Amino acid sequence: AKYPQPSGALLPVLWEVQKTNGWINDESERWIAERLGLTPAHVHGTVTFYTMYKQKPTGKYHVQVCTTLSCMLRGSDELVEHLEKKLGIHCGEVTPDGKFSLVRVECLGSCGTAPMFQLNDDFHEDLTLEKVDALLDGLT
Ligand code: FES
Repeated sequence: AKYPQPSGALLPVLWEVQKTNGWINDESERWIAERLGLTPAHVHGTVTFYTMYKQKPTGKYHVQVCTTLSCMLRGSDELVEHLEKKLGIHCGEVTPDGKFSLVRVECLGSCGTAPMFQLNDDFHEDLTLEKVDALLDGLT
């Protein structure tokens, strides 16, 4: 009711569905499309455009490593390699215990403090491999 056009509610509705279910599956996309008068392709295109929308279940701790230019120049490739080795997974995967998931993402808008990643809702900046180890080892 807040939106003059139902389609204007797409982003917040996707966000609410993700908060409830943890991620957005095909069934949810069809359900949203039907209620907002959109095509499933429109909803799917939105979900796949924004990296903040999860297209599959993630770990308890979801690590999104920025690998765009500033972060790349400051070592994000080495950071990803280190994380993959430390967690025993590749980008796009979840650890067998469900504790961690790891993805590469585009610029998160924190270029001046590269390299950085987002861990769940929080940014961690000016990262070194030592800082990453201390951070992840401290998580329960
Ligand atoms: Fe990494 Fe912008 S390039 S935050």
